[in-house]
Amino acid sequence: MSELERWETRYRPPDYLFGKEPNAFLKSQASRLRPGQKALSVADGEGRNGVWLAEQGLDVLTVDFSDTALAKARALARERRVTIATEVADLTSWRWPRAAFDVIVAIFIHFEGAERDTFFANLKAALKPGGLLLMESYRPAQLDYRTGGPPQVDLMYTREILQKAFGDFAELDIREHDSVISEGTAHVGMSALIDLIGKK
Ligand SMILES: C[S@@+](CC[C@H](N)C(=O)[O-])C[C@H]1O[C@@H](n2cnc3c(N)ncnc32)[C@H](O)[C@@H]1O
Repeated sequence: MSELERWETRYRPPDYLFGKEPNAFLKSQASRLRPGQKALSVADGEGRNGVWLAEQGLDVLTVDFSDTALAKARALARERRVTIATEVADLTSWRWPRAAFDVIVAIFIHFEGAERDTFFANLKAALKPGGLLLMESYRPAQLDYRTGGPPQVDLMYTREILQKAFGDFAELDIREHDSVISEGTAHVGMSALIDLIGKK
């Protein structure tokens, strides 16, 4: 089964796998956001984060390779009476816009090796100068918690990996922490997390 088929299968049931509420780290960064900003939410899945950004007044493009997830994202936007643009695309081959976004949000999207290097380079290039990147991911210690996330250590992010990729940002704050999260049925319990707040 391909990675896309795996996600389509996970998203097919009508419930929201990661819930309808925004990621707690993203929500904690609300004071950095301004209505009217152009935002990209990558690998946004069923849209809980993109829809929340739209509720804060941002102009949101939500991208994911799962058509099924994005249909649910649009349904959530309708339920919350906001508008989001959605695009079905594989982020490893997407024609990424350049210097186009004030804010990019990347919550629990893990790549490894060359795909990760390209993904990080594309995130940076898609931000306007001064643009804000908000990212939350799992650290290798998550493999012991088994409360969500991919089962391969190579997919996990560390301070060194993020520092190397985003060390040239004008502002960079990387925080490693173990915290209890509750996101639908897929991310539940104590989790080894790494947050990045960066300005290009
Ligand atoms: C753990 S889920 C997180 C979803 C969402 N960010 C959230 O926090 O609710 C990972 C998401 O990445 C998407 N994804 C994985 N690989 C992708 C790729 N190559 N291109 C686009 N989306 C991808 C999946 O479809 C899934 O929605």
